[in-house]
Amino acid sequence: MPPPPMGWSSWNSLGEGVNHDVVKAEADGLAALNARIASGHRYEYVNIDEGWWRSGQRDASGNFIVDATQWPGGMQAIAQYIHSKGLKAGIYIDAGPRGCGKRADGTHFVGSDPAHYDHDFLQFAQWGFDFVKVDFCGGAANGYDPEKTYRSIAQSISRAYSKTGHRLTFSLCDWGTIPTDKSFPDYNEGPWTWAAGVGTMWRTTRDITPDFDSVVYNLAGNYHPEGQHTGYYNDPDMMVAGMRMSAVHDQAHISLWAISGAPMILGNDLAKPLSPDTARLLTNPEVLAIDQDALGLQGLLVAQSGRLQVSAKLLTGTGQRAVVLFNNSAKAAPMTVTWDSLGLVPSSQATVRDVWARKDLGRFTTSYTAPGVPAGGVIMLTISGTDPSPVMWQPGALAGGAVSVRCPTCASGNKITGLGTVNFSGTSLGARGGFIEIGYANDSTRTVFAQLTMNGQRPAMLAFPPTGSDASMGAITVYVPFRAGPNALSLSNADASTPAPDIGYVATVSGPVPLSQSEAIARRAEN
Ligand code: GLA
Repeated sequence: MPPPPMGWSSWNSLGEGVNHDVVKAEADGLAALNARIASGHRYEYVNIDEGWWRSGQRDASGNFIVDATQWPGGMQAIAQYIHSKGLKAGIYIDAGPRGCGKRADGTHFVGSDPAHYDHDFLQFAQWGFDFVKVDFCGGAANGYDPEKTYRSIAQSISRAYSKTGHRLTFSLCDWGTIPTDKSFPDYNEGPWTWAAGVGTMWRTTRDITPDFDSVVYNLAGNYHPEGQHTGYYNDPDMMVAGMRMSAVHDQAHISLWAISGAPMILGNDLAKPLSPDTARLLTNPEVLAIDQDALGLQGLLVAQSGRLQVSAKLLTGTGQRAVVLFNNSAKAAPMTVTWDSLGLVPSSQATVRDVWARKDLGRFTTSYTAPGVPAGGVIMLTISGTDPSPVMWQPGALAGGAVSVRCPTCASGNKITGLGTVNFSGTSLGARGGFIEIGYANDSTRTVFAQLTMNGQRPAMLAFPPTGSDASMGAITVYVPFRAGPNALSLSNADASTPAPDIGYVATVSGPVPLSQSEAIARRAEN
């Protein structure tokens, strides 16, 4: 499954001022930035946001009116240019019949609408675009239900793929909600509860602005770790690094996006020369690798004291964690991360590396203390330690047509096919943190789905990409908060018509322990 999309978008620095030459210069800038990344992951998408069309209606054939002065050669020409630089091209539209932006006469740009979805997304694919962000200004104004709307658009995107062989990476933008703001259209039903498998990424908060308060606000509103797993990402918005914050704040912003496993869509003007600080901060391969880690998980908040926060992310490989020590106070402070909070064996030795300084700091047991985390800044670490052993969950009752069949390639020698529902029981003792690994097979060529219900809570939709054949097992790792003592988990098909994977096993894997859980455990230990 693809890691969080990396690239650049026009909105933060250009607003509606996009045209062929300007976007071409930005694509050149992104290619030049990539050339400065020594190894590993590189920026990929050049996304054109609002402003590419400015008409209030469609032409006589129902197409968006593309201004030939703004886009000589049409939208195909800019997509082609972006491709010629080895990059991918993104475009933008609204889910409802009017865009967010307004014309000089006060009327809005025309948007898309259910009657035009097939037509519009086919057009974007035919023009050669690889990515589409779908905003919700017209959707909200017309009272559309976000989930139904975006599911319907996902189907149009699939149909466009069937016709053209060109798949659009789908970015949802209904801004989600934040716990205290009831004015958002899907308050309490944010896309993190339903959008995995509908699209690749979904906005979780209001628009970011290039100031640190906005960065911190969006980060907090984006905290939905149970909604994110490989291929499906919470999106705290396009980045504002290199715009007008200090280098210390820029570094914190990039680190916090990376520990979140957030899409890294830059927003600064890449057509202008970058300061040495900006160039350095945007091209650190170790920081990018943390963002792009194949498990695709979001980091968890594992400790907090006032304005000092420790976040940690489970990475691929045994005993691997990334950590951000974030000091959002007004003076430099020492900060500590404990192995216990990372779900590592506390008495084991672990290697600590400073990824911004790009140097190993040594081997430590129990914890590591950074002597001085700068005010408003971070220290970002990787920690390689020892995981406790995984704990297998025992399959119990099968229902709805699910059957257990022999499977020599599965850990338990059996797998469950024909979901239905399978119930598992397990306990969190011995492995903490709420991470489970699901071994599965999907011999189709498409992603299939299952719903996970944990302790009777609201089900989460999980997506299972193809594994190639019936005999080869894949695995996804997801975060589902455990409760103390026995836990009950079930996996079910989404509905009778949605294909589900065969399930090989469910195991608890160790990972960072979220703050509230570790606090509860500490309190139990005190009693
Ligand atoms: C909304 C989105 C932004 C941007 C603007 C364009 O506000 O949230 O990201 O696309 O629209 O008008």
